[in-house]
Amino acid sequence: MSSPSGARAHWSNRWAFILVTAGSAIGLGNIWKFPYMTGTNGGSAFVLIYLACIIGIGLPLLMAETMLGRRGQSNPVDAMRSVAEEAGAGRWWQVIGIIGILGASLILSFYSVVAGWILDYTVLATQGFSGLGKAELENIFTGLLADPWRLVGWHSAFMLLNLIVVIGGVTGGIERANKILMPALFAIVLLLLGYGIAAADMPAAIRFMFHFEPQAISAPVILAAMGHAFFTLSLGMGAIMTYGSYLERGTSITRTCLYIMLADTGIALLAGLSIFAIVFAQGLEPAAGPGLILQTLPLAFAQMPLGKLVGVLFFVLVSFAAWTSAISLIEPATSFLVERFAIGRKAAVAAVCFVAWFIGIAVALSFNLWSEIKLFGLNIFDLLDTLTTKMLMPLAGLLIALFAGWVMKRPHVMEEIGLTGGAFRFWHGTVRYVSPVAIMLIFLNVIGVIG
Ligand code: PHE
Repeated sequence: MSSPSGARAHWSNRWAFILVTAGSAIGLGNIWKFPYMTGTNGGSAFVLIYLACIIGIGLPLLMAETMLGRRGQSNPVDAMRSVAEEAGAGRWWQVIGIIGILGASLILSFYSVVAGWILDYTVLATQGFSGLGKAELENIFTGLLADPWRLVGWHSAFMLLNLIVVIGGVTGGIERANKILMPALFAIVLLLLGYGIAAADMPAAIRFMFHFEPQAISAPVILAAMGHAFFTLSLGMGAIMTYGSYLERGTSITRTCLYIMLADTGIALLAGLSIFAIVFAQGLEPAAGPGLILQTLPLAFAQMPLGKLVGVLFFVLVSFAAWTSAISLIEPATSFLVERFAIGRKAAVAAVCFVAWFIGIAVALSFNLWSEIKLFGLNIFDLLDTLTTKMLMPLAGLLIALFAGWVMKRPHVMEEIGLTGGAFRFWHGTVRYVSPVAIMLIFLNVIGVIG
């Protein structure tokens, strides 16, 4: 809860930090995006590179971003200003915070529209999908996309849910919501997994996701996997930095970040396995794209035993996951407005949600009335997704790695990250060399400089 004296809020304990940050990380990225990207990018090749990116780039940067937030004890912009000052570096490093706040707000705008689809499908699932065939389910999805009012309505409802939580404050709102939603989410994932093992084709799912096929690896697959590693760990968008700024001194950043990474990756893999087990058991197409969980899965729910129950559980799961992530997209800009401009928390949250809601309307319209509006061949939705996931996130990640690895004074880094000896050198070396080089190589590859 924000206190009038201006003292900053802190999470109740380290488990609360792990829970809320896992809540931010585990979202549509894990249950909607990861399975469909695995499906369209050749299955196991994508999974393998994704895992490599998570361990080689994601985890070290997750630790670095948390460290910067805790060191700075402030919103992303002011946190970067104070850590840069401490390092005797230029104020322009604040740009990391600015990219984060802008990026998070843009992600929120389209995230909320997609979360709106999920809310719509949660209601549909309560009526059951039985009797519906492939064509009908496709019509339901295209019908939803073609209906601006339905899209904007659900988008607004989702934004409102988030507004209510974030207005409640850091512990009274964000922490409290996560303490209810996250355990429910874990329970539903396990139930679905149990169903996948007992009643669907788990061996086929395992083969699809883990059978190694080196020939399927290509530059676009690598970029997609890296971009997704950033997205799924909520990196570079100020969310982790802000949550880290509410972390007490003395908590191990290494251990908490390791748990967060394991939870995020674990849920993605388990959700992916459960989804593909159901998809394969029904003889459906894994490469269906963004409609995978909306068009393909309901077909499976329509045909399988206990389909109605599994369907409702599934969409409730995705809604909860989206909700705990979206609130972490609101907090960076909120804390910035509150701390920099002394705006009250309620007004700040309302302003942030309003801006994202407004841009979200354009996103919703890009599926129907404005589908012809394109820049670089991309509609508004694809444009925002590409701009944030493939550009702003890796860029912010690169700057964070450079700052934490090269600019921040080594004793300060050691003190804050809490590592010594070989463990410190390993992490520091990764942040100094591996992360920046990997990000730059992939960028150069994408813009066609190296092949
Ligand atoms: N990590 C979230 C997901 O996987 C999305 C997210 C990105 C949340 C960036 C916060 C910041 O759905």
